[in-house]
Amino acid sequence: MNVNEQYQELLDAAFAAMQHAYAPYSRYHVGACVKTKDGTLIPGANIENASFGLTNCAERSAIFAAYSMGYRREDIVAIAIVSDGTKLAAPCGACRQVLVELLQQDTPIVLSNKQEQKITSIAELLPMSFTSEDVL
Ligand code: THU
Repeated sequence: MNVNEQYQELLDAAFAAMQHAYAPYSRYHVGACVKTKDGTLIPGANIENASFGLTNCAERSAIFAAYSMGYRREDIVAIAIVSDGTKLAAPCGACRQVLVELLQQDTPIVLSNKQEQKITSIAELLPMSFTSEDVL
């Protein structure tokens, strides 16, 4: 089973969310989707702002929505992040810091564009991270 077959529904939902990206400045469209243990799919897209730093990335939109619905990291089975770029997009640094807190360390992060797919995890994307263990 390749990445596409196992995560087809999740990837389809992330690509559908990408269509809702609000990206008039970069024109770079990103979609994401969180899948929970109970099978719920929670989409997110990148939402830009004229004050550029206030832009919200797609994966943060999706995972904040999941938490807003009451889900927590142990409820999340996978997250897909897709873009319309020619290079496979990996989460930005800010999103990695958010994901290291809100996802379990080995939860599959499925990256895709139209050409390729890759499965990774936040443990791989953000080693030696600063977490709640440092401050609690
Ligand atoms: N973007 C995301 O949505 N996720 C990432 O991890 C990388 C960047 C968005 C932010 C901005 O709207 C556009 O991509 C270009 O940086």
